[in-house]
Amino acid sequence: MKRTEPLELPALEIERQREAMRAFAELPERPQTYCVVTYGCQMNAHDSETLAGMLREMGLSEAQSREDADFVIFNTCCVRDNAQRRALGNVVWLKELKKRRPQMMVAVCGCMMQQSGMGEQVLRQYPFVDLAFGTHNLYRFPQLLLTAVQSRRRVVEILGEEEAGIPEDLPVYRACPHRAYITIMYGCNNFCSYCIVPYVRGRERSRASARILEEAKRLRDEGVKEIMLLGQNVNSYGLDVEGERSFAQLLAALDGVGIDRIRFMTSHPKDLSDELIDVMATAKHVCPALHLPVQHGSDRILRSMNRRYTREDYLRRVEALRAKVPDISLTTDLIVGYPGETEEDFEETCSLVRQVGYDSAFTFVYSPRVGTRAAAMPDQIPEEVSSRRIQKLIALQKEITRERFARYIGREQLVLVDEPSRRDENQVAGKNPQNITVNFGGDCSLIGQIVPVRVTSAGESTLRGERLLRK
Ligand code: SAH
Ligand code: SF4
Ligand code: F3S
Repeated sequence: MKRTEPLELPALEIERQREAMRAFAELPERPQTYCVVTYGCQMNAHDSETLAGMLREMGLSEAQSREDADFVIFNTCCVRDNAQRRALGNVVWLKELKKRRPQMMVAVCGCMMQQSGMGEQVLRQYPFVDLAFGTHNLYRFPQLLLTAVQSRRRVVEILGEEEAGIPEDLPVYRACPHRAYITIMYGCNNFCSYCIVPYVRGRERSRASARILEEAKRLRDEGVKEIMLLGQNVNSYGLDVEGERSFAQLLAALDGVGIDRIRFMTSHPKDLSDELIDVMATAKHVCPALHLPVQHGSDRILRSMNRRYTREDYLRRVEALRAKVPDISLTTDLIVGYPGETEEDFEETCSLVRQVGYDSAFTFVYSPRVGTRAAAMPDQIPEEVSSRRIQKLIALQKEITRERFARYIGREQLVLVDEPSRRDENQVAGKNPQNITVNFGGDCSLIGQIVPVRVTSAGESTLRGERLLRK
């Protein structure tokens, strides 16, 4: 069922948060410094920018380190068990710190908190956590923190997805001035059998395209050179709202705003339309890079994963993309050790990886998530089998990356400079249009600029080059 309007929260609700921010800033005794610790995907990274934006309006400044902060907030991820364990490990580590600095406040939010039963678990098992909330009420953070500080009580508020809405006009603090994330939709409807995300992020909710365009124009005026559009499945953008632009139409409209580089993630292969491929081919500012998670190479497993495409469907999409955007770089996500995966199934993943020739791939060992369909399936794969398979897959992809990267050598590329290079202070690092890191000689004054660079050699995950000086 389509809704007639985007699911925006009432402006009054956001105004209340602004009031809470002002009131907090004026409290005589309150935390002065903050630290936001982020786990998980770009969605979470962007949520953390919103948390930081709110904290700054509440009068806090960023702490030098986690140990020094008066207020530490963990924005958690639960997509795989190791992500969750890492987050919890760090939260518990703060318990010790808090014994020494009892005035320190600790908060936990994000996807892990949104899992069923987590609220009670925090109250019971983590008495040193002062504040916990979920993904659907992130916008209420100012009020929640104000209540926690004023009442000197612990506050836990986790809302069900029926209360999820789209918050507009929250403050955002971006660590990087020349790049920006823009969320275009929230949630996911796909329920891939292994995945917890739809349970913790709710159903798809698209923002109004007029809002997105407004935001893009504002960012352009602030000097932003690159935007990254975010959604769990951007290809189904707009489908939930009557009369809304499709993703391809949105992208075409954004292309007209005049920001140098536009990227987006993530694309679900089942919804990758010809219309979108055409826009990618003709738009001036849409980068020739696509993250197109395939997850697996075996049809039997893809069906069990509920991905709703076959290996053949996927390969046909790749072919169509390469026909229209010849220089495109493709990246993907792969899962090994999904329940019932045989040696032959795994070999099909390997052969698909060879066939496509990805520039790079994120490889994951399947991690059972409570409440998902796959977690209850028979035939879970033993750890040693998965770990042998993933090693093999990583080695294979490394080889392919090397072959793919060789094609850049000798070419002139425009690089958006991001930061000083990690290894060499006389070098800077940036991204080419295909989103591959390029290191070259230069100083920090180049940060935020797009400069021509000739690629001279390729490393395992980065390229090296030299700056071309034009007269
Ligand atoms: N919406 C995006 C991805 C979100 S999660 C998409 O559809 O591609 C990012 C990646 O984590 C997924 O692509 C998948 O490869 C991996 N992942 C998700 N659940 C997982 C699980 N239970 N075990 C291992 N990897 C998982
Ligand atoms: Fe998870 Fe699938 Fe949704 Fe991606 S599309 S978030 S993998 S359920
Ligand atoms: Fe993790 Fe939530 Fe993203 S579970 S991957 S942070 S949507």
